[in-house]
Amino acid sequence: MLRQVLLAASRSDGVRKAVETAPFSRGAVRRFIAGETVDDALEVTQRLIGDGLSVTLDHLGEDTTDAGQAKAVVENYLALLERISAAGLGTRAEASVKLSAVGQALDEDLAVENARRICAAAKAAGTTVTLDMEDHTTVDSTLRILGELRRDYPSTGAVIQSYLRRAEQYCADLAYQGSRVRLCKGAYAAPEDVAFSSKEEVDKSYVRCMRVLMAGQGHPMLATHDPRLIEIAGALAVLHDRAPGDFEYQMLYGIRPAEQRRLVGLGAQVRVYVPYGGQWYGYAMRRMAERPANLAFVLRSFATR
Ligand code: FDA
Repeated sequence: MLRQVLLAASRSDGVRKAVETAPFSRGAVRRFIAGETVDDALEVTQRLIGDGLSVTLDHLGEDTTDAGQAKAVVENYLALLERISAAGLGTRAEASVKLSAVGQALDEDLAVENARRICAAAKAAGTTVTLDMEDHTTVDSTLRILGELRRDYPSTGAVIQSYLRRAEQYCADLAYQGSRVRLCKGAYAAPEDVAFSSKEEVDKSYVRCMRVLMAGQGHPMLATHDPRLIEIAGALAVLHDRAPGDFEYQMLYGIRPAEQRRLVGLGAQVRVYVPYGGQWYGYAMRRMAERPANLAFVLRSFATR
């Protein structure tokens, strides 16, 4: 119930304006977001890399409504990737891109063109891009765009959400040599005919998908904080003889940081998803919807100021 309310609020302009302008909001979300600028993002990236982690950077922003706004998002990624290149961080830091932020809802061709510019800059910086997966209505378009981009940039990463009833099939289609696939549970509201709604079904689907990806030829990127799923991932890696470099764990910035470092200590590859930028509202609300403890954390930080 609380999850539904928070997910609805994440799409509401009225609530967004109220929260964004509320005093202390920015400070309260700082646990989950690196900051507003490229400098902030780079500072956090360098710290995480220093701790043995890898990073994927997300410039916050979604649902772009005009081409100018989409262009500004692209420019921001280009500036970020230039800095990654100059700092020599390309082997450890990649970019995560939401196609909705680069114009997907306006025109698919525009989104392809914009994403292509970001992929080219990533390649020049010695790194790559992963396309985040968003609302279920965008899945077909996102997979089409992925196919386009992979022709020239084969390392472009895909994301599959295990809550989708078709997730296992998507994973089977994408489990080929060189294919980087992030598996997550899914963070958006979706109807019952498209997505599983119970945690048990979503988790079981995650395990089925993980089996397909770990048995396949691609590079699985297992994005979850769930201790049971992390344990099963480790067992599947042994079963399929995957070395630490042949798959990776992924977690969000600020969530289970001790577990991230524990896995690194065991020799695993762990990548942290680091969001930055001014448009943090939708991202922060989805994190609250996932876990009431995150909401309690933010409310506590309001109360203690
Ligand atoms: P879930 O939320 O069910 O939590 C399972 C267990 O994990 C909990 O019971 C608890 O034990 C532990 N846990 C979770 N949060 C914790 C916390 N704050 N502190 C301590 N323990 C905690 N979604 C999407 O739709 N599209 C996308 O492109 C992406 N991309 C993405 C990248 C990365 C790197 C990650 C980690 C996640 C995403 N997601 C995403 C979000 C994803 O779909 C999902 O909403 C969240 O990861 C939460 O799901 P969990 O797998 O962590 O399980």
